[in-house]
Amino acid sequence: MDEQNASNKQVNEQYSSKIICTANHGFAPYAQEELRRLFGSLKSTMLIPGEVFVVTLGTTLENAIERITEKSPIFLRHLFPVLMEIPGGDKDFALQQAVSYLLKREYIEGTRVSVQIRKAEGSSWTDSPGALRDQVQEQLSPMEVEYTVTDPEWIISLFVAKDTWYVGVSRPESNLSDWNGGAIRFQREEGQISRAKFKLLEAEKQFEIPFSSFRHALDIGAAPGGWSSFLLERGLQVTAVDPAKMHESLLDHPNLKIVNKNAADVKFKESQFDLLVCDMSWSPKLMARMVTDLLYSLRSGGTAVVTVKLLTKKPMALVHEIIDIFEDSRMQIQGAKQLFHNRDEITLYMIKY
Ligand SMILES: C[S@@+](CC[C@H](N)C(=O)[O-])C[C@H]1O[C@@H](n2cnc3c(N)ncnc32)[C@H](O)[C@@H]1O
Repeated sequence: MDEQNASNKQVNEQYSSKIICTANHGFAPYAQEELRRLFGSLKSTMLIPGEVFVVTLGTTLENAIERITEKSPIFLRHLFPVLMEIPGGDKDFALQQAVSYLLKREYIEGTRVSVQIRKAEGSSWTDSPGALRDQVQEQLSPMEVEYTVTDPEWIISLFVAKDTWYVGVSRPESNLSDWNGGAIRFQREEGQISRAKFKLLEAEKQFEIPFSSFRHALDIGAAPGGWSSFLLERGLQVTAVDPAKMHESLLDHPNLKIVNKNAADVKFKESQFDLLVCDMSWSPKLMARMVTDLLYSLRSGGTAVVTVKLLTKKPMALVHEIIDIFEDSRMQIQGAKQLFHNRDEITLYMIKY
């Protein structure tokens, strides 16, 4: 066991298996349910209502993280293992404790490190999380590390709750996302047609979908055209189906065919497409029926990406019902996730066999 693991273990035993968990706003109860299904009963306290909670598990951190990451949860967007808890009443004391703990993590010397700070309302740190990050980085200056936002080797996490500061140091792959709280940000481009484009950008990263390797895409529920414009940028020929108007900047695009119709009324050739995407914001069961009715036009081995609107108080059951419908139509689920840009829906990534 290397020095880093040895030191983590020592702390694990001291502090038990605590994890800070994050879901999209309002979906924390479903992330808790996913953990309950994995670990049985669990002790959990909300830190930001509906969004962030700390969970205590009756197993080691290594085992807990391994089981969670293996399962690829749908609603649990981000986590970090807690290595140290500090009473948070006095912010100067808490900061000094956190820094002296971190200075002993010699294994991060010489690596690229992301410092990710979040805080809950009512905590002793009244300034911004960014100001705390600057303080932490400044006080860690005896350590030779390169600070980065993207592609870190290690992540220092600090969640400042009302009464407690939670500190973690982990590899990005342990956190389910290398973004702070899993909140992946994309820059809004000039002339960007819709925010919906961020969903496909995030799906590309989350599921590692090789969009540029496809040639002919069918985009169902395409207007105003954020997804179509993304696919055109990736070099695809796109057929966009929507009775609503596409954005005028797309109207003359040579690689875009616009079909101004309801998706129930369109016909295509067998295996005409190698990619099908659908972002219809509609009744999930009707969406699933409409998409499965058009699956003849997706060649076998082709990819589908669809969003599923969660218009119900029982999203877990709904998601499984929709997955069953697709699985009965020769679709193999590669990924199912509530992305940061999804809000009240999830994204399914599937391949036809
Ligand atoms: C959330 S918007 C899609 C946004 C789009 N992905 C983008 O990136 O700009 C949903 C679209 O689905 C379309 N829609 C709803 N029902 C449809 C149907 N039966 N057939 C085709 N399009 C439909 C709506 O007209 C609407 O434009």
